[in-house]
Amino acid sequence: MTTSAEFAGRIAAYRARIEKVLDECLALPDPGTARLREAMRYSALGGGKRLRPTLVYLTGESLGADLEDLDAAAASVELIHVYSLVHDDLPAMDDDDLRRGRPTCHRAYDEATAILVGDALQALAFAVLANDSIGTLPPASRLAMIRVLARATGTSGMAGGQAVDLAAVGQSLSVDAIENMHRRKTGALIEGSVLLGALAAGVAEGPRLEALKRFGGEIGLAFQIQDDILDVEGDPALLGKSTGADAAHNKPTYPSTAGLGTARERARQLRDDAIAALQLLGEDGAALAELAHFVVSRVT
Ligand code: IPE
Ligand code: IPE
Ligand code: MG
Ligand code: MG
Ligand code: MG
Repeated sequence: MTTSAEFAGRIAAYRARIEKVLDECLALPDPGTARLREAMRYSALGGGKRLRPTLVYLTGESLGADLEDLDAAAASVELIHVYSLVHDDLPAMDDDDLRRGRPTCHRAYDEATAILVGDALQALAFAVLANDSIGTLPPASRLAMIRVLARATGTSGMAGGQAVDLAAVGQSLSVDAIENMHRRKTGALIEGSVLLGALAAGVAEGPRLEALKRFGGEIGLAFQIQDDILDVEGDPALLGKSTGADAAHNKPTYPSTAGLGTARERARQLRDDAIAALQLLGEDGAALAELAHFVVSRVT
C-alpha cells in the first residue's frame, strides 16, 4: 500500500514524463507550416491534468509494463484528447474563449488553423502508435492499440458522442440518454486509456481486461458528470475554463436533467462500482482505485 504523498509524487512524475514525450512528438521537421506546428504545440504543451496519459501509465505499470513501452500510448491518447478540445471550443461547437487558463486555439490563432490543428493532432496520434522507434512493443500489440484508439475516437466514441451533444442543444434528454452521450464523448477515451495501458502490458484478453474495461467506462462517465457539476459550481480560476457555458448554450447535462444532488450521488456510485470492478486484480488494482477517488473529488 502506498501513502497519498507517494501516490501524488507518482502522478507528478507521470505528468513531467508525458510533457517531455509530447514535446518530442511535436518537434515536427516540416518547413512551411510553422504557424500550424506552433499552434499544435500551443494547444498540447504546458497544461491540462493529463488524466488520460496518467491512466495509461498507472494501468500499464500496475500490470508490469516498463514506462518506455507506455510512452507512445500515453502520448497518442493525449493528442486525440487535445484535438477534441481544440475542436470542441470552436464557434461551431461550444464557442469557448478559454482553455487550460489560456485563450483557446482559435482565439490565439484563427478558426482555420484550429481546424487543421485538430486534423494534424489526430493523424499524429496514430503515427505515434504505429511508429517503430518508440518502445519495444510487437506489431500485433501496436495494431490492437491502434484499433482501440480508433474505436474510442470515432463515431462509436468521442466524435459520435460530440454529435449527440450538438444534436441535444435545446432538447431535454432522459438520464439514460445523457449517460449514453457522456459514455461516448468522454468515457470512451478514458476507457480507451485504461485498455491501452493493459495492451502495452501484454494483457490483451480475459477477465482482467474485462474488469479494467468496466473500471475505465465507469470512471469515464463519472468524470464527465463531474465536469458538468463543475460547469455549475466550479471555480474558473482553478478550472482554467469558463463556467456556466452549458446553461448558456442550453445544453442538457447531468445536473440540469437530474439535479446537482443526484449528479453528485451518481458520480460517487460510479466510483464505487469502478473500484469494485478492480477487486479481481487484487493488489495490482490499488493505484487505479486511488485515482478513482480523484475523478469525483476533483475541483480542477
Ligand atoms: C475536459 O477534459 C473535457 C472533457 C472531456 C470533460 P479534462 O478535464 O481532462 O481537460 P484537461 O486535459 O485537464 O485540460
Ligand atoms: C467535452 O465535453 C467532451 C469532448 C469530447 C471534448 P465538454 O464540452 O463539456 O468539455 P469542456 O467543459 O468544454 O471542457
Ligand atoms: Mg462540448
Ligand atoms: Mg466544451
Ligand atoms: Mg463541460
